Amino acid sequence: MAGVSSDQLLAALRASGEPTRLRILALLAEGERSVKDLTDILGQSQPRISRHLKLLVDSGLVKRHPEGAWAFFRLAEDGGSVAFVRQLLAALSPEDALVARDRERLDAVRQGHSEAAQAYFARHAGVWDQIRSLHVDENEVEAAILDLLGDERYDTVVDLGTGTGRMLQLLADRAERGIGLDVSHDMLSFARSRLDDGRLRHCQVRQGDIYATPLDSDVADLVIVHQVLHFLDDPERAIAEARRLLKPAGRLLVVDFAPHDLEFLRDQHAHRRLGFDHDHMSAWLTGVGLEPDRHIELAGTGDRNSLTVVAWSARDTRSAVRTPDRLSEEAA
Ligand SMILES: C[S@@+](CC[C@H](N)C(=O)[O-])C[C@H]1O[C@@H](n2cnc3c(N)ncnc32)[C@H](O)[C@@H]1O
Repeated sequence: MAGVSSDQLLAALRASGEPTRLRILALLAEGERSVKDLTDILGQSQPRISRHLKLLVDSGLVKRHPEGAWAFFRLAEDGGSVAFVRQLLAALSPEDALVARDRERLDAVRQGHSEAAQAYFARHAGVWDQIRSLHVDENEVEAAILDLLGDERYDTVVDLGTGTGRMLQLLADRAERGIGLDVSHDMLSFARSRLDDGRLRHCQVRQGDIYATPLDSDVADLVIVHQVLHFLDDPERAIAEARRLLKPAGRLLVVDFAPHDLEFLRDQHAHRRLGFDHDHMSAWLTGVGLEPDRHIELAGTGDRNSLTVVAWSARDTRSAVRTPDRLSEEAA
């Protein structure tokens, strides 16, 4: 914990040395949360929670990220007194009654969000292929994806939140093996009928949660997360899981919306996040050991409700494993 001044240390102790604020910090150590989540979990009024959050933000321990009518809060990046507070939090016993209760409620809140999203996809699975192209022409998005990938070919492509399996179909020709994962049975049954085509025999879909996929580490040369993150409670955790799946020097492709203010998408289309700005996405990618290389922005149709789509590409920073075959190719 090099470089913490006594002033910083005292400020961190003052900010965290209060029961509700300590509980908030423990919850934020698990990932970003909205004020609404925190009030649901802690059972305290919104003005009270907001006051505590303001104090934590002022102390530099917590960062606030406004998004439309909502704001999300997370622990600030490690460094200085944040590292110290993380150490304090790590010392909290999971069996402590309050910690255990907050944890249980956090799980219930996450479960509630995930059920709302699943209910939405169960209702819309049959028309998803139309919905997905409402904002930017799908051909344009797919052309941008292929542009970012260049002429690469892959052993294994993993498509997280595969939905109806369109990304597997798009990339089938350049992969030896394609695996799509999704939580929704309804979406997967549409994906299975799409994959039931001779050309796609090397692709399969399975049920799996993006946060804890049933796949080994270091299996994929390419992981794609296409229009999934804005439905998630904790996009950063999904990015960390995607990175876990990547082989050294593998590539992650994330496609999602740029920041927007269409609040109705939360109520009517189960969106949790109103897009992602480039700095935020880059910080998430670098934070898990990926190096963002290129991104392409595709502006919407220009009407009031049109959204900009962004495709981000990033590489795992570990160098590629040099197999005996590759070594002899290089020597030739
Ligand atoms: C908007 S659709 C996108 C589907 C596909 N990637 C595409 O672009 O057509 C989002 C998909 O993410 C899936 N999803 C949402 N939460 C998930 C989770 N926690 N784990 C895995 N899939 C999830 C949904 O079931 C849905 O099929």
